[in-house]
Amino acid sequence: MNNFQGKVALITGASRGIGASVAQMLAAQGADIVINYRSKSSRAEEVANAVRGYGRNALVVQADMTNESQMQEMIKRIEEQFGRLDFLILNASGGLEKDKTADYAMRLNLTAQLLAMNLSLPLIGVGGRIIFITSHLAHFYGQQPVYTAYEPVAQSKKAGEEALRAQIPQLATKGIKLVVVSGDLIEGTITPKLMQRNSPGLIDSRRQQAGSLPTVEEFARAIVNATADPQLESGATIFVGSTDW
Ligand SMILES: NC(=O)c1ccc[n+]([C@@H]2O[C@H](COP(=O)([O-])OP(=O)(O)OC[C@H]3O[C@@H](n4cnc5c(N)ncnc54)[C@H](OP(=O)(O)O)[C@@H]3O)[C@@H](O)[C@H]2O)c1
Repeated sequence: MNNFQGKVALITGASRGIGASVAQMLAAQGADIVINYRSKSSRAEEVANAVRGYGRNALVVQADMTNESQMQEMIKRIEEQFGRLDFLILNASGGLEKDKTADYAMRLNLTAQLLAMNLSLPLIGVGGRIIFITSHLAHFYGQQPVYTAYEPVAQSKKAGEEALRAQIPQLATKGIKLVVVSGDLIEGTITPKLMQRNSPGLIDSRRQQAGSLPTVEEFARAIVNATADPQLESGATIFVGSTDW
């Protein structure tokens, strides 16, 4: 257990899945939580109730990360309520949505990640940490094969990771570290199920190849530990699940 008393974490895309699990784990260890979501307000409120159940403060903010004014408004509300941020967890991601234009994956996984970081920086003090969540398929994009349907996501998340890494020297001058946490396909989550529509049997075959797939809780625990581990250098990458395929 870490002691996050007095710390404030903003988790993008915390209304469900991995982000929701991270929010609850951080709250269980003492952090106050900003729960960002795009559209699922009732799910975000459920996560907030769980956070409050741990005796922590929760601020629920709707903001589409690709909408600059909504993002600015979110940061304003964080400043008003907490006056600071200690952890920025860049978890929200997308690109498999059917109703979006072809450039959406890049707008969300690259441009919006940099925007979120830049808008948050004035609130993050010395010792703060930015965590970028990615997948092995994206982290190793260009080096290892990727399922065709996932390619725009992998390509854009890789571009997002590289753009954030390019900021490491600037972050260092402020005493802030960037850590990347990369996961294999996560058991029971939506994204692999969407990918499977184009590649039947993908999840079973990956599970067999890797031995097992990480659970949401295992991935979330690694993300929480990445916010706390003092030994981690800026730019470190934590891998969750097998990286061989
Ligand atoms: N699932 C996997 O197998 C897997 C494997 C490795 C890495 N990862 C990484 O883990 C992270 C979380 O994945 P997940 O599977 O938990 O995702 P998910 O279930 O699809 O949840 C996505 C979250 O992001 C939010 N979101 C989506 N688009 C947004 C936008 N434009 N602005 C703000 N929020 C937005 C959603 O909010 P609403 O629901 O309110 O729209 C939701 O809270 C991602 O970075 C992903 O690449 C996932």
